[in-house]
Amino acid sequence: MNRILVKTVLENLNPGSTATVGGWVRTCRVSKGGFAFITINDGSCLAALQIVADATLANYEGEIVKLSAGCSVLVTGEVVESQGKGQRVELKAGELRVLGWADPADYPIQPKHHTMEFLRTQAHLRARTNTFGAVARVRNAVSAAIHEFFQSRGFIYLHTPIITASDCEGAGQLFRVSTLPAGQEPKDQAGAIDWSQDFFARKAYLTVSGQLEAETYACALGNVYTFGPTFRAENSNTPRHLAEFWMVEPEMAFCDLQGDARVAEEFLKYVFSAVLTRCPDDMQFFNERVDKTVLATMEHVLGNDFVRLSYTEAVDRLVKSGKTWNYPIQWGLDLQTEHERYITEEVFGKPVIISDYPASIKAFYMRMNDDQKTVAAMDVLVPRIGEIIGGSQREDRLDVLNERMRAMNLEPDSYWWYCDLRRYGSVPHAGFGLGLERVVQFITGMANIRDVIPYPRTPRSAEF
Ligand code: 4AD
Ligand code: MG
Repeated sequence: MNRILVKTVLENLNPGSTATVGGWVRTCRVSKGGFAFITINDGSCLAALQIVADATLANYEGEIVKLSAGCSVLVTGEVVESQGKGQRVELKAGELRVLGWADPADYPIQPKHHTMEFLRTQAHLRARTNTFGAVARVRNAVSAAIHEFFQSRGFIYLHTPIITASDCEGAGQLFRVSTLPAGQEPKDQAGAIDWSQDFFARKAYLTVSGQLEAETYACALGNVYTFGPTFRAENSNTPRHLAEFWMVEPEMAFCDLQGDARVAEEFLKYVFSAVLTRCPDDMQFFNERVDKTVLATMEHVLGNDFVRLSYTEAVDRLVKSGKTWNYPIQWGLDLQTEHERYITEEVFGKPVIISDYPASIKAFYMRMNDDQKTVAAMDVLVPRIGEIIGGSQREDRLDVLNERMRAMNLEPDSYWWYCDLRRYGSVPHAGFGLGLERVVQFITGMANIRDVIPYPRTPRSAEF
């Protein structure tokens, strides 16, 4: 089946050329004069291609007039100038083969408005809608731009393990990986589960972050990045949390927090402008149909410097704002989404990089500042979403790291290999993690994170 993409026909082919296209019917209108007007979409672009089929086709009465949304077809015909508005060309069918029928009585994706909640129950078919096709193309463009940005700067793409024995964030939000029979796990003499008899002869988990392993490679190869799925068993039912999400994590040797923040800003801007260049129609669609501010927001973000603000200053502004908050705010408490959004939306109206958080609310690996109270951490906040990136300079002094781990009830021995980096040729290094879904949400204006990943995994939900 030597077909070409609908995108190619619409953008590149001139009237007079012949083309074969395949796709799924969006609409079929049969006119009295013996013509059927069929629009098909093949996912290569937002637009559907109009096919005109007339009664001289052998299967016109038997098949073509019975086409409806969701049927798959393969059409060969002549590209002709379009009479209708909105498209340059259409296809005059010389042959139209129906490959698969979709009964209109039960095909779930009808040409009408469906709610996001309904479409989540049809996640295997929702990619055939305009919205989910556009999300998939933007997500693809973001992923490609992520690789381009780092590859063009000489970063090495590193595959860190999915199964791990360490809790990078120390937050205990781990999914266990085990092959022990549920309910019949072997016990040790004290009556506790004997993990030495499990598959890995120890407790193992799905990774929450590839950072610790990425640090080991950065301390050999200089600049590296990981990009893969990460897992968090946090019971957060919010429009911004998934139990399985994709994270890109660069890690840079000979780099401090300022360098880290600089790369984060350049990186985000690179990704935003790549999507604007490559997905103009999809972005236009989001701007018209999903959130009327996304294009203006992108332009504004690209044209302005990100604000740099310390945690201490941020808390100061929040306390003095005179607002009433759902969550309390004072020095030492973590910022909640409402606080992050106030800072980035109302105070500055652009992305803000907040740095130097209290050590007590951040992970063990972040470098202690000279004040002995704060760590060299940064979060990048953007309007509407709040935190999109979390990063830090890493603690590169062995004694300080050991002390920090003990203070947080972590056993340095079980991170012996991580500590070795500080024992042998330690260097200042820094990195960050960007949540892929949050960046796709920010770019597209999609309100719920469940709608920017093909098959969302959230508490109490792992359908498909
Ligand atoms: O701030 P986090 O927890 O940082 C880390 O995991 C570090 N190890 C990263 C690093 O320094 N290499 O997560 C990083 C980002 C967040 O800013 C957010 O965008 C995203 O990952 N993220 C989530 N996205 C969706 N669902 C969740 N449950 C997420 N948790 C974090
Ligand atoms: Mg974070």
